[in-house]
Amino acid sequence: MKLLVTGGAGFIGANFVLATAQQRPDVEITVLDKLTYAGDRATLSSVTGGPDPRVRLVEGDVADSALVDRLVGELGDGGAVVHFAAESHNDNSLHDPWPFVQTNLLGTYALLEAVRKHGARLHHVSTDEVYGDLPLADPSDDPDRSRFTAETPYNPSSPYSATKAGSDLLVRAWVRSFGVQATISNCSNNYGPWQHVEKFIPRQVTNIIDGVRPKVYGAGTNVRDWIHVEDHNRAVWAVLQRGRIGETYLIGADGEANNLRVVRTLLELAGRDADAYDLVADRPGHDLRYAIDASLLRDELGWRPLHRDLRSGLKATLEWYRDNEAWWRPRKAATEAKYAQLGR
Ligand code: NAD
Ligand code: DAU
Repeated sequence: MKLLVTGGAGFIGANFVLATAQQRPDVEITVLDKLTYAGDRATLSSVTGGPDPRVRLVEGDVADSALVDRLVGELGDGGAVVHFAAESHNDNSLHDPWPFVQTNLLGTYALLEAVRKHGARLHHVSTDEVYGDLPLADPSDDPDRSRFTAETPYNPSSPYSATKAGSDLLVRAWVRSFGVQATISNCSNNYGPWQHVEKFIPRQVTNIIDGVRPKVYGAGTNVRDWIHVEDHNRAVWAVLQRGRIGETYLIGADGEANNLRVVRTLLELAGRDADAYDLVADRPGHDLRYAIDASLLRDELGWRPLHRDLRSGLKATLEWYRDNEAWWRPRKAATEAKYAQLGR
């Protein structure tokens, strides 16, 4: 089987490529990645180097129609595209939305036109943020609290989530109007190895390693539904192989926690005072809570998360960043300089 993986040098895409190369020797992978600030050739060096590389990395833009047409055309019968490439960070989208429009909307359009022409299968990787947010609720007070389902109306809050919502709608329209063979998944917040230090967990983990106090937006009560990146990617494979064309699958692992709980756990795991964090200026338009109902994925495709305990997942992640400082260190100072300009 031939796969074209867009954004395969970023966090989730690289984890997908590394796991696939290791576990599925029958799969040939081409990665298309623009290698923006978020993509790193080094992440894939274990599978792109050597005399018999398992993976080919093509540096290029998913919005480059001619390039995308050529790469999709090379897939042949039974080939598929897994589309991870995106501008992915909410804070950046508030500062400069244009790259989000360019990559998330025009990039998805270019890919859809190519899979339409060549008849290739497409899986589009999206986010729960397309649904906007849910009210804050203490799970112990409200056991039936609401969660996102595939029927939840789209209501995105930021330029990032609006462009992801737009890309999902393009995919749905190309399925209905042109018969494109596509599926969509909307996943909650991922954590694990190879995540850029701009994101919440790696930012706080690397701050703690550096002896800097973690920075928590607002009052720290916003809730995210954390899932380990390996579980997300196992779900992507399940949808790619067994998902119904045109269907949307929500991916989540019942990992709700507010930001204070995550930071306090990380500090405890590092042997620090759990109160040694700073509350900083809030993110404009900050979504309150995300929570996923993944019952379709569980019931129809039989998927189950393997990482069920957030505390042990955070411990392993802390250890991974301690052991892989050479990978993240080059990006840390510039990332913190950007945050300092925002007062966060
Ligand atoms: P990331 O920012 O770590 O990686 C994005 C990758 O896409 C990078 O390698 C970057 O170089 C590449 N890229 C950016 N613009 C490109 C372009 N124009 N052409 C080709 N490549 C380009 O992002 P991530 O966290 O790995 O997210 C991957 C996908 O998963 C995104 O579509 C995102 O919306 C979605 N998602 C992320 C999460 C999460 O928690 N991180 C959750 C749900 C869904
Ligand atoms: O829900 C899925 C989404 O999760 C993905 O679509 C996005 O690509 C991904 O970036 C993530 O979006 P968030 O905005 O939820 O993730 P982020 O890591 O930026 O922030 C997580 C929470 O932590 C959020 O409530 C903001 C807060 N935060 C973030 C940073 C960087 C802080 O309190 N301090 C910080 O320094």
